[in-house]
Amino acid sequence: MEDPRRDEIAAIAREMKARLSWYREEGVDSWKIAPPAPIKESERIQKMPKQKEPKPYEPIEPPRFAAEAPGGPLSAPAGSTAPRTLAEIRDEIGDCRRCKLCSTRKNIVFGTGSPTAALMFVGEAPGADEDAQGQPFVGRAGQLLTKMINAMGLSREEVYIANIIKCRPPENRNPQPEEIASCKPFLEKQIEAIRPKVICALGTFSAQTLLETQQKISALRGKFHEYHGVKVLPTFHPAYLLRNPNEKKSVWEDLQKIMEELKKG
Ligand code: URA
Repeated sequence: MEDPRRDEIAAIAREMKARLSWYREEGVDSWKIAPPAPIKESERIQKMPKQKEPKPYEPIEPPRFAAEAPGGPLSAPAGSTAPRTLAEIRDEIGDCRRCKLCSTRKNIVFGTGSPTAALMFVGEAPGADEDAQGQPFVGRAGQLLTKMINAMGLSREEVYIANIIKCRPPENRNPQPEEIASCKPFLEKQIEAIRPKVICALGTFSAQTLLETQQKISALRGKFHEYHGVKVLPTFHPAYLLRNPNEKKSVWEDLQKIMEELKKG
């Protein structure tokens, strides 16, 4: 008699085959842990609101820095009306004119994913593709990040993806201190709203900014650090991996540490 679960089993086999072939492609030859439990349907919620059309220049009040709060960036100032949801934070950013990147950007790249994500990825800054689409990590490096997320047994919708700064620096230059000072409070608020279990800091710039250190990514990566009570694991940036594919194995080891941490529940 035909097994009634034949189609289901075949679908699982196909998915396993696809994942294993990605691992092989990425030079992974060993793995020891199961992917974390899938996030409950009730926990995956709304997509972020669509990017608004840019408005003409108008001066805006400087942001209220979360870092000024007495308990640090992840606690709201006493009696404050600090935004609590990602939609409120996006609204507070508005058509941002707080730094000079507003004059060259096409879109503000706020972030995407689950507002209750246990895992958050923080990159550096939008590139040309991200600027054009208003979404983080959608170019070549983004496609590799998506593969990394999928190899962890997760989807982009189940994690949250953001950057240290939300507007593209011209010619993809490094963000400047005043640009970070304007933008970082909003990342802090996003972290506060999501309260992920783990932040994966992608690349030197993200790791150094979040951890307020000048240490090299090679020294920081692969170990858990802390950002206001949230575990931070820095790893190499996917763009670096595109240039140095032999480091993919190290990144896979880092991602496995995150998976293990997420499994602890
Ligand atoms: N690199 C980043 O750091 N962030 C993006 O969103 C895209 C590329």
